[in-house]
Amino acid sequence: MLLLAISLCLAACLSPCTLAATANGGKPLVTAITKDPATSLYTSPLKDSRPLVIDLSGPLIWSTCDRSHPTLQCHHHDCAHAHSYHPPGCPHTGYGKADEEDRFRCKCTARPYNPVAGRSATGDLTRTKLSANATDGTNPLYSVSFPAVASCAPASLLDRLPAGAVGVAGLASSRVALPAQVARTQNVADKFTLCLPRGGGDGVAVFGGGPLVLTGHPIDLTSTLTYTPLLRKRGSPAYYLSVKAIAVDEAQVQLPGDPLATGGVVLSTTAPYTALRPDVYRPVVDAFDKALKLQSNSKRVPAVAPFELCYDLRTLPGPTRIGWLVPDIILMLENGKNWTFTGLSSMVISQVGCFGFVEMKLEKGGYAGAPAVEIGGFQMEDHALQFDLEKQLLGFAMVPFFISCHNFNFTQSH
Ligand SMILES: *[C@@H]1O[C@H](CO)[C@@H](O)[C@H](O)[C@H]1NC(C)=O
Ligand SMILES: *[C@@H]1O[C@H](CO)[C@@H](O)[C@H](O)[C@H]1NC(C)=O
Ligand SMILES: *[C@@H]1O[C@H](CO)[C@@H](O)[C@H](O)[C@H]1NC(C)=O
Repeated sequence: MLLLAISLCLAACLSPCTLAATANGGKPLVTAITKDPATSLYTSPLKDSRPLVIDLSGPLIWSTCDRSHPTLQCHHHDCAHAHSYHPPGCPHTGYGKADEEDRFRCKCTARPYNPVAGRSATGDLTRTKLSANATDGTNPLYSVSFPAVASCAPASLLDRLPAGAVGVAGLASSRVALPAQVARTQNVADKFTLCLPRGGGDGVAVFGGGPLVLTGHPIDLTSTLTYTPLLRKRGSPAYYLSVKAIAVDEAQVQLPGDPLATGGVVLSTTAPYTALRPDVYRPVVDAFDKALKLQSNSKRVPAVAPFELCYDLRTLPGPTRIGWLVPDIILMLENGKNWTFTGLSSMVISQVGCFGFVEMKLEKGGYAGAPAVEIGGFQMEDHALQFDLEKQLLGFAMVPFFISCHNFNFTQSH
């Protein structure tokens, strides 16, 4: 019976059983994004005002559940969507299990994954309610509660998430991730814009397209974006970019082999800093240090973990309103565009100034399957990043230096 239910579902779900969302009618939704100082993770108060961790690479929404909750049946199309991607290193166990009360019903289970702890669990696929505010792009307008398909998870899966967080909101390219579910329920475009905050104070996320305007800069940030294609890697719901080369100021860094093409460049909100695979890390770090030495009398000081290159602040050029005047790190993209990280995005400042790119820690598999570059939270902060899942494009722009992602006006306007 279980097998029959699964094969029925597969047949039903391979046919185009998609509800076409037309991008008119509804209003986009806005939510605050908070950076947790202890874990550097970003959360949004989406579940009864309680925070969910934002995970750009997550294909599901999951949280702890009440003991009594509805469970979707295995032949539901969202059950198939919940099984489109499989957490790394986790066995395939089918779509669900027989209901204890009714052996002819198959209850859908999903595989919620904790990207920080690198662990997954099994949980019922359920229906829950999430909430946010409708927005005109400048202010919240009114609270909106909307139904969402989510996986339950045991409380033990919250391990290493921020205190108070009750789960994870996956933002990846999957039919049961948050952006697609907002698009379907609100009748808005399948795109979202993130403005991740640096340090304390709220940043902002807008789901469903539309403008994004910050106080102190009366210009729609989404009209200032540079676009590059979003790529998909087989078996992964994460967002990859096509990067042709990395340059430090004007000079392209020579990398052995073609790591950017083979490993790819992925965006991650659960990596605090951009991580470079060892074969990419060493040439980039050496090129940065060399370029900085040519431009200044910068003096290295002992490393401050997790960083290697740290400098005496009195010897670094700057600071200016546009940050420390260190060499730019440039991702040279497929379509001739550049994503440039200036001192504001490359230098982590405390008592000393450290180059904020870290060496990737590889799993047992070594380079196999590891991305060449994982662009992390710090480097994405104070940027407007628009993920357009209809056109498969990433739009990016640095927020102008005189404002920041803290500048969204969260006072409701009527
Ligand atoms: C909507 O916005 C108001 C004002 O910022 C806030 O107090 C409220 O919690 C928001 N509602 C939801 C559901 O997030
Ligand atoms: C991109 O960066 C490279 C390296 O600095 C530079 O040579 C090139 O002119 C830049 N392209 C654009 C379009 O700015
Ligand atoms: C924020 O928005 C409210 C409502 O539109 C407005 O009254 C207030 O002046 C705005 N605050 C700032 C600092 O612009």
